[in-house]
Amino acid sequence: MQGNELQQLIERQPDRHSLDRAFYTDPEIYQREIDLIFLRSWQYAGHVSEVPRRGDWFLFEFGNESVIIVRSDDVQISALVNVCRHRGSRVRTERAGCSRRFSCPYHGWTYGLDGRLLVAAHMDESFDKSKHGLRTIHCEIFNGMIFVNFARDPAPFSIFQQELGDVLAPYDLAQAKVAHRQNYPIAANWKLSIENYQECYHCAPSHPEYSQGHALAKPGARTSEMMAAARQKRPACGLRTENVDSVYLAARAFGADTAYDAYPLWPGHVTGSKDGKPVAPLLGSISDYDGSCTDLQCGPTMFALMYCDHVVIYRFTPSDLHRSQCDITWLVRGDAVEGEDYDKDQLTWLWDVTTHADKRIIETNARGVMSRHYAPGPLSSMETFLWTFLEWYLHTMRQDSLRSLDATGTGGKH
Ligand code: FES
Ligand SMILES: [Fe+2]
Repeated sequence: MQGNELQQLIERQPDRHSLDRAFYTDPEIYQREIDLIFLRSWQYAGHVSEVPRRGDWFLFEFGNESVIIVRSDDVQISALVNVCRHRGSRVRTERAGCSRRFSCPYHGWTYGLDGRLLVAAHMDESFDKSKHGLRTIHCEIFNGMIFVNFARDPAPFSIFQQELGDVLAPYDLAQAKVAHRQNYPIAANWKLSIENYQECYHCAPSHPEYSQGHALAKPGARTSEMMAAARQKRPACGLRTENVDSVYLAARAFGADTAYDAYPLWPGHVTGSKDGKPVAPLLGSISDYDGSCTDLQCGPTMFALMYCDHVVIYRFTPSDLHRSQCDITWLVRGDAVEGEDYDKDQLTWLWDVTTHADKRIIETNARGVMSRHYAPGPLSSMETFLWTFLEWYLHTMRQDSLRSLDATGTGGKH
């Protein structure tokens, strides 16, 4: 699709409607999304507790990209591009491991944990190993959460600390640990997965398990007294009451979105579990259950549900035009012992059953969108955040299509 065609497509997009089908089916649009959104944003890669020892590593992957997140020494965690500098083989193919060095499986070039090339057999004397280390990308840590960014000059990472540092402090996520992680492959374009996450219009019909505990599913039944009561209780539990909301077009810089917003659980529920009862020890310095669930967002594709006793991190990434991945990580206190302090099945039950339902409805949505009878449909008042995401998406794509018009010199015709 040429820049001017994309420009026309964006201009035709009706306000507060779902997207034109081409946004879900055009391979060139998909490639632009990778370049413009995924290679320029801060993306959640994992948690520090996944790489506790020197040499521990795991892969973070999306589209055609693969990154090795490795603890290269006691204090340093690095992000190495998983592409051999000889002829481009993936250097690591397993999901995670612990290594002293990274040896390419093809011809044996061997790299240190910091990416430096150490061994390359039978190369000319003029070959300079120092110029052929694995490429590195930006890698930063915020409250124990590891973020990466491929951009040469990314948005300042300090925005996360400035906007969310105070409100996240009581959870002490740097000392938390991964209790479980689960991958849910979704046969749908990545935008359909995020669109679904951004609205709770579908919660009442699709998520009875979630709806029985969380007041977001039925806004009409939620009273202002409930909201006020939950808010009042938070300081006594050691939690902050400030809201943060600078996402998408309102973000302080592209790819560094930040949001933190609590909403009440129904009476009798103190956390996100099957019966609303506690499922793990209280996190960090939190002293009691406040009766809320808190939504968190860091970057455009990472979201979390924060309860007083556990945190559920969602990450959405594209695999290709028609497939995306939803990766969920459950965090609990770092000193909590499985089988004693928490039961993994109880801990993960709610968001596992909810995500299976989401996978089903997103994939069913994707099949309908593929029909030639699909047309953009109007959004409800419960889909405001979804439109916030789409507005940002269209704006981002518009900037790029205008740039490409300039570059080809055809901009004046339209
Ligand atoms: S491609 Fe890695 S050593 Fe040849
Ligand atoms: Fe859902």
